[in-house]
Order: sequence, then C-alpha cells, then structure tokens
Amino acid sequence: MSHVEEHDSDRRDFLYYATAGAGAVVTGAAVWPLVDQMNPSADVRALSSIRVSVDGVEPGTQITVKWRGKPVFIRRRDQEDIENARKTKIEDLVDPLARNANLPPDAPATDENRTLDEKGEWLVEIGVCTHLGCVPLGGKTGEFGGWFCPCHGSHYDSAGRIRKGPAPENLPIPVAAFIDENTIKLG
Ligand code: FES
Repeated sequence: MSHVEEHDSDRRDFLYYATAGAGAVVTGAAVWPLVDQMNPSADVRALSSIRVSVDGVEPGTQITVKWRGKPVFIRRRDQEDIENARKTKIEDLVDPLARNANLPPDAPATDENRTLDEKGEWLVEIGVCTHLGCVPLGGKTGEFGGWFCPCHGSHYDSAGRIRKGPAPENLPIPVAAFIDENTIKLG
C-alpha cells in the first residue's frame, strides 16, 4: 500500500481552471488514492471513496487531492485562521448554510459546522468556486484570509464561506471523516 500525499505548502501561484482554454494550467501535484485492499471491487470503489494521509501537513498549509474528478482542499488551519472564522457572525455571511454533507441541509454555517475536528484545525472542502466552477487560490488569499477565486473575484474566508463577490454559496464540504489520527477518508 502506498500513501497518498501531496503538499501544496501554501503556494500562492497554485491555480488551475475547471474548463480548458481559460488560462495557464498549474496544478499542485498528482495524487494517488489509497485503495482499500480488502474491497473486492477496489477499482470501482476508488472512484467513490479515498483515504488521504495528512501526516506531516503543517498548520497553515493545505494539500489538494483529486476526488471524483474534483479538487478537494484539505487545510490544516493555524490559530489565526481558526480565530477569524470562529468570531465571524452568521449575520455577516452571504450564505448562512453550512453546506456540509455530513450535517443536515439546514445546518447553519458556523465555523464549528464547517470543520472536521472539534478544535477546528482541519477543514475539508471541494475546491470548486460556486460561481462558475474555477478553482480558487488557497492559503490566506483574498480579503477574508481564505481562498480567492480570480475568475470573477470571489472571496472566501478561512472556513471556506463566501464573503464577497459573485459566488452564491459556501464551498461545499464532502462526506469526510478521520478514520485514524493521520488519515482522512473522503466519501
Ligand atoms: S468562477 Fe469563481 S468568481 Fe466566477
């Protein structure tokens, strides 16, 4: 078994587009899903469920993995990210819903409802702008210290919630869970 790891280490030039022809294509790195060897249809399962080792991901950095054809940002937030996100009031949000597949659809977009762990260190979200599908730039970019989509100027905060610009919804959170201390399962 080999581990899946990709370290994007806060590269501010990380950017690629969901559609061809829109500009330069610069991806972080390739990702190799860790397939459950016990599953008889592992090749098929690989498409729907992957495990990602987050061992070695430092606070303040993120990795990007490709899952079901989409980039998924796994960010280990630092204290500043956590504090900024937790002090934000729901009334100040463009989209008040958590958009978290692990919670009911009407769950509010508190930071606690967006993060994977209680401390709020880990944020897992699908890295596709909810405006027209570009991949936002990560690593404390934009006016709210989260992600910035340069296609039409959407600013997301450090919880991946849309704060300014044309995007209508928070970045969606996929089904995800820690299955051990260092491994996140998507799907
Ligand atoms: S696609 Fe992100 S702002 Fe338009």
